[in-house]
Amino acid sequence: MTYGARVLASCDRLWLQRPAFADYDRALKAAGVGETQPLQIGQGGFGPGDGVLLNNPHNPSGKLIEPGWIRAIAESGATVVVDEAFMDFLEAGDGWSVVGLVETFPRLVVIRSLTKFYAMPGLRLGYGIAQEGVLEEWQQWRDPWSVNSLAAAVGAVVLSDRAFQRRTWDWLAEAKPRLVEGLRSLPGLTLEVGAANFLLVKSERSALEIQTELLKHHRIFVRDCMSFAELGESYFRIAVRTVAENQRLLDGLGEVLG
Ligand SMILES: Cc1ncc(COP(=O)(O)O)c(C=O)c1O
Repeated sequence: MTYGARVLASCDRLWLQRPAFADYDRALKAAGVGETQPLQIGQGGFGPGDGVLLNNPHNPSGKLIEPGWIRAIAESGATVVVDEAFMDFLEAGDGWSVVGLVETFPRLVVIRSLTKFYAMPGLRLGYGIAQEGVLEEWQQWRDPWSVNSLAAAVGAVVLSDRAFQRRTWDWLAEAKPRLVEGLRSLPGLTLEVGAANFLLVKSERSALEIQTELLKHHRIFVRDCMSFAELGESYFRIAVRTVAENQRLLDGLGEVLG
């Protein structure tokens, strides 16, 4: 993210979809970006002075962004950074990834993370995909030894673990629709289903109250959305877990919302 922010910092205007993962603002501020413009999905009017930071699939909604629109932005000459941290949850990117566009557009950068799909956040391993010139530029200022040897070794293993990838896609295809169905049957909750391994839930009751009660009575901690200024107390975001764990959550929520 730090690299992506630095690429964008040289733009005259920077466009960012909101709500946005809180680290974007931190990274952009650290890179010296003053303010950002609110980005509407599908909008036009970009040019070479513009920088656009996209998150596909989007955290926290899980929504996907049409690659055709991303191509159109790149064609305008704008600098585009696409954070595909959750893209691996779609089987083979399912045609949604824009990694294939990088060779055409020198101002397009895709950033990826291994920490989500491979459940290894503590190892801190991710990568950027960009044309050679961009990568050579990064090489001049990036931290030396930014990947430790354990992360490098594990990264090589997980990327070739086809069985794990298959299992993960199969698990999500089964567990997510069941969780969605269960959530939709509970009073006061609404949700749109995105493409990621989490669900953004809108709640009539305060999400903070629900969070506290779930923790107190069921020892389940759901993530509130207070770090997304636009969402606040009306939303919480839950991870899709095993079918049994999801059921435990549904039972607990059922009692809390009773
Ligand atoms: C959209 C998005 N991008 C990037 C990251 C950062 O991932 P990592 O932990 O691999 O740095 C996160 C982490 O939550 C995220 O939600």
